[in-house]
Amino acid sequence: MKKVICKNYEEMSREAAKLVAEQIKAKPESILGFATGSSPVGMYKELVRLNKEGEIDFSKITTFNLDEYYPILRSNDQSYYYFMFDNLFSHVNIKKENVNVPNGEVSDPDAECKAYDEKIEAMGGIDLQVLGIGHNGHIGFNEPDEKLIGATHRTGLTESTFHANSGYFEKPEDMPREALTMGLTPIMQAKKIVMVISGKSKAPIVKRMFDGLIGTDCPASVLHMHRDVTVFLDEDAASML
Ligand code: F6R
Repeated sequence: MKKVICKNYEEMSREAAKLVAEQIKAKPESILGFATGSSPVGMYKELVRLNKEGEIDFSKITTFNLDEYYPILRSNDQSYYYFMFDNLFSHVNIKKENVNVPNGEVSDPDAECKAYDEKIEAMGGIDLQVLGIGHNGHIGFNEPDEKLIGATHRTGLTESTFHANSGYFEKPEDMPREALTMGLTPIMQAKKIVMVISGKSKAPIVKRMFDGLIGTDCPASVLHMHRDVTVFLDEDAASML
């Protein structure tokens, strides 16, 4: 795993965006995997800027997001569908029909997850996947557990994730306790992975991820088995390395 330690969040966002932009320029019809959360917001801002300046073109890009709360309406401003339009898709020239986010509105989540994996597979897999990391080592909503799941699936959320995310909801109890998440198989099959991590609170899990041991206590540690991972960290996140 390649690490790039940046001065601060802004530099981390710019550097990560450069890799995504290179991918788009090299292959304008790329399949990109995207994440939500606070970590990639600055990177999305930079991608919007590059798109507005004519540096990168999203017109042939297809995207698959990592996850979505379940159940949740897409119109809810805390849904990941809403987040992606708010932070990126509404500001670039992507075609709405090329955007894929697991649908938290469906009545049959298992069928939704199966169809999601089939669509990724039919498109030849993800060219570049963006990831953040949870304080508990999750990627997507693949939470630490005795066993990890390969396929895209419905999952319960841990207390740690509830604690990290419920503050964004008007009332903490409004946060769904479940999610649909891309499993580790489509993530690990992405040709390239870009991870963004910032802030002191992530330093302990960053230390764990980089200690070289692969374990289900830290789902992100499976990334050691991937050939092309670049982790962009700010100095705070890297402070225990
Ligand atoms: C979001 C996702 C999560 C986040 C992680 C970090 O789509 O899949 O794994 O990347 O929880 O979130 P932030 O960036 O808010 O610290």
